[in-house]
Amino acid sequence: MASKFIDISKVEMRFGQFHALSDVNLAVEQGEFITLIGHSGCGKSTLLNLVAGLNRPTSGVLVCSGARSPGRGRNARSCSRTIRCCPG
Ligand SMILES: Nc1ncnc2c1ncn2[C@@H]1O[C@H](COP(=O)(O)OP(=O)(O)O)[C@@H](O)[C@H]1O
Ligand SMILES: [Mg+2]
Repeated sequence: MASKFIDISKVEMRFGQFHALSDVNLAVEQGEFITLIGHSGCGKSTLLNLVAGLNRPTSGVLVCSGARSPGRGRNARSCSRTIRCCPG
């Protein structure tokens, strides 16, 4: 199976004792347009920060354009430039 441009598998994010993300799985093809929708505080920005390589997941695997988190190499940066966030 061909690898996805963004491939998120079983990602968990904790801030201390606070469990912000649990078992997040998402695959995005290059050029695919997706939208993250959810109530305030559900973890949208936390997930985007992980995809952008700004934070490391507590557990799980996050690959973006061939760069595995927490990689901040050329691929990771070029990926972050493609992310467009709506306010909220
Ligand atoms: N650096 C942090 N330290 C502690 N808690 C955080 C931090 N960043 C986000 N959170 C918490 O994680 C949850 C998800 O936040 P966030 O991803 O900003 O939500 P959204 O973008 O969906 O509104 C919220 O409860 C928020 O308070
Ligand atoms: Mg947000």
